[in-house]
Amino acid sequence: MLSLNDPLLLKTQLFINGEWVNGDSGNTFPIVNPATGTEICKLASGNKNDTNTAIKCAQNAMQKWRQLTAKYRTQILKQWHALIMENIDDLALILCAEQGKPLAEAKGEIQYGAAYIEWFAEEAKRIYGDIIPSNNANQRLLTVKQPIGVVAAITPWNFPNAMITRKVAPALAAGCAVVVKPAEATPLSALALAELADRAGLPKGLLSIVVGVDAIEIGKALTDHPLVRKLSFTGSTKVGKLLIKQCADTVKKTSMELGGNAPFIVFEDADLDQAVQGAIASKFRNAGQTCVCANRFLVQRSVYQEFTEKFIEQTKKLIVGNGNTENVTMGPLINTDAVQNIHALVTDAERNGATKVLGGAASELGSNYYLPTILTNVTPQMRIFNEEIFGPVAPIIPFDTEEQALELANATEAGLASYVYTQNYARIWRFSENLENGIVGINEGIISSEVAPFGGVKESGNGREGSKYGIDDYIEIKYLCMGGI
Ligand code: SIN
Repeated sequence: MLSLNDPLLLKTQLFINGEWVNGDSGNTFPIVNPATGTEICKLASGNKNDTNTAIKCAQNAMQKWRQLTAKYRTQILKQWHALIMENIDDLALILCAEQGKPLAEAKGEIQYGAAYIEWFAEEAKRIYGDIIPSNNANQRLLTVKQPIGVVAAITPWNFPNAMITRKVAPALAAGCAVVVKPAEATPLSALALAELADRAGLPKGLLSIVVGVDAIEIGKALTDHPLVRKLSFTGSTKVGKLLIKQCADTVKKTSMELGGNAPFIVFEDADLDQAVQGAIASKFRNAGQTCVCANRFLVQRSVYQEFTEKFIEQTKKLIVGNGNTENVTMGPLINTDAVQNIHALVTDAERNGATKVLGGAASELGSNYYLPTILTNVTPQMRIFNEEIFGPVAPIIPFDTEEQALELANATEAGLASYVYTQNYARIWRFSENLENGIVGINEGIISSEVAPFGGVKESGNGREGSKYGIDDYIEIKYLCMGGI
């Protein structure tokens, strides 16, 4: 049992229309701690009827919410932010228990998630329209920005808090209502967030959380419902493509934050210590389970040996274990399937000529743990070069010229993040502009922030989360043409 300062933050029911309910089916399912394999609690399992109820209530609730002043919405969001920060220790414990990341990292995620609420609380007041010079002297043209309608948010298990707030906060700020379907492995953080939103005074129905074991059924209810006007999804490219197809029938607007295959490019003029520091931060954050984790290390041949040695030395310092234990810097993976998938990529690479210079095996700590791993002599023909690893494995590939590095970096359908380490300013501009990614870290391994636009190009998705652009996905522009003036 989790020892929380406020035990009421551990919820075991669905949150629909401002009420805690058991759901239509009356079924429950277990939530398991990936670090220990033990059950944290049983949770009510929602279905399509619960989802439809939440959508109808959302539609009702937003009629009033959208008419309120932006200043009023700002105050509620700021109160929600304040309550999250007051309860950061409990929220981090819940997150660590259901997801596995170390407690310090879990706290970092709560802060990161809360920052989106604070940011969009402010942005609510800046949803400006335009006055457009008309071609006719007797006309006045203007635009107003209006909430898009009920929003559905389907969120992943790797960031059970922040991936919710960065969708819900701009939606609420814009005047929308949201129905969230969190990942079934990590719903407790979502429910705790809903409890705090309720305490902050968010009117009933504006935020509902439908948790359930049947993700396909709930997802279909969200994508099929005509009242849902917008779907925001973070998750795999495969599921994203399916959801886009499902949304086509009702022509919903979609934002997709999908898989990545981030290249991490180290040129011979880079500060190698800085590059190694960035590599550790980018690769092993959340045990390698982020869409922006470095997936392929492209290192110029003249510094390949030196970079690899330094990288191995620093990687060895990672302490793997239960995230709830002091000093642990890398937790378990989300489940045993994840460990097996990652090991299959490593085995395939080895079979095709890669060299395992560190790790490369499941850990003795249990079936959900995988050792931090470094592979050298990796080639573009290997699966590990082409697939998103989503685990603590770093494949290193040598290159000779800038042109070759760019070709390797862009040789993927994914286009989320990339990283480039060089001291040459002309190259920084040239290379960054030619990378096919939505985000480029330059001499920097951690790029996420509520003030910056997060999102990808190519098959990594569309739309941007965070920053001044993040609210656009929840808004429709209406053009007013006034004649007879
Ligand atoms: C993700 O992995 O989807 C998000 C990572 C981040 O926000 O930094």
